[in-house]
Amino acid sequence: MSSVSHADPAVIARLTKEFEFPVTAYGDLVSQFTKELHEGLIQENLMPMIPTFVYDLPNGEESGVVLSLDLGGTNLRVCRTTLKGKGEFEIIHKKWTISDALKKGPGKELFAWIADRIEEFLNVHCGDTHKEGRYPMGMTFSFPCEQLDINVGNLINWTKGFRGTDVLGQDVVKILQDCIDAKKLDITVNALINDTVGTLLATAYRHPGCEIGIIFGTGTNCAYLEKQSEITKIKPGAANYASPTDRQIINTEWGSFGNTSNALPANEYDRRLDIKSSQPGKQLYEKMVSGLYISELARTVFHDLALKGELFAQSSEKSKTSEELGDLAIKERFDGAMMGALDGDESVNLDVIERHFLTNYNLQTSLSDRETIKHICHLISSRAARLSAVGIAALIKQRELLTSQKEVIVGIDGSLFNKYPKFREHLEDALHEILGSAAVRPEISLINAEDGSGVGGAIAAYLTCQQKGLKI
Ligand code: BGC
Repeated sequence: MSSVSHADPAVIARLTKEFEFPVTAYGDLVSQFTKELHEGLIQENLMPMIPTFVYDLPNGEESGVVLSLDLGGTNLRVCRTTLKGKGEFEIIHKKWTISDALKKGPGKELFAWIADRIEEFLNVHCGDTHKEGRYPMGMTFSFPCEQLDINVGNLINWTKGFRGTDVLGQDVVKILQDCIDAKKLDITVNALINDTVGTLLATAYRHPGCEIGIIFGTGTNCAYLEKQSEITKIKPGAANYASPTDRQIINTEWGSFGNTSNALPANEYDRRLDIKSSQPGKQLYEKMVSGLYISELARTVFHDLALKGELFAQSSEKSKTSEELGDLAIKERFDGAMMGALDGDESVNLDVIERHFLTNYNLQTSLSDRETIKHICHLISSRAARLSAVGIAALIKQRELLTSQKEVIVGIDGSLFNKYPKFREHLEDALHEILGSAAVRPEISLINAEDGSGVGGAIAAYLTCQQKGLKI
């Protein structure tokens, strides 16, 4: 991109002000985040901080063949993982995109569809193995569940646009197991974990010492290893949270940060997005950070500027109507992958951006439009990266790792972290800005988790068998 900007300086200044998240705002937000993480361990109805009944991390020597299921925000995967010890593994998996109809339809239909996919996978990939008994299966389920045991979890609420209200409050393992049993498949779902727990387990398998797992993808969340003595809240109905190891992984569900405290630097666009979402008032941090929402924020800004005659107006400065904007006027018709491609366009005339708007929305763009668009993507994604760094810094503070000399290893997975141009760079810069001034601070390694959800699910199933004295 040329260094001389063609974009309207007044528009750029206004948007920059809206999405700005200055370094001076970090301190207060980190303190508030740390407070919410801490209080969630003591009291119900705040940040969920869900005890997971996973009491330890793998030692890297686990070995055996285990199945896992990974239901994320966008895809379903069924995996067959061979854990080989020494942190090595081999994974065979099949992936299906979850259609909009399944996401928004009844939950029972979604689970029946999942069981069909498991059967399909089993026929192709497990037909040749003469396994005695049933396969253990780890279920990686990327939605908040109140866990009452390692294989019992009641769905608290859907996130990321899923809507199957018929299964709310119900045990998702039982629903899936019933569908599996109805098909007479030799599978026992013995462990339910969140994708962040999977990311943590999978990273710890390869990198001993990792105690934090994070997803920056369609949604965002974090799990970490906590001291049992810190978890003092009691949940009626759960046997107890007593851990044999005096440690327990906590699924923070940090996407809900700011729901009750009003601490987040939300602007008019954020508020509008929240009101139009399937769960207004919930997952407010996630709505400023994760892939599903930041692309929707960008789309809302494009739409808004076009209606004001500040984008796609060519030289006439004529405002567009929603009809003229075609799909760009429709919710979620601009996704995180598209946003990444536009933000990463380094060509002189911003050709990728030009092609995108012409092909997908039949909209002509001037160079000024394209520079404005790139700027919007950059503003929103770098704010997301900075807010992500706030979460990591708060967790490091909560675990009192700030003054430790030990390396802090953080396993991270998700499309935003893995694929979005410069997201990781902005995140690391912000972490440095937040923690850089500390007199002593640990070395922080952000590690790309390799298939956290798939391998992590397998490890959880393995550890459960081991804990119950069952043969793999
Ligand atoms: C869910 C979490 C999940 C995260 C990342 C959020 O919407 O509430 O359970 O870990 O997305 O997939």
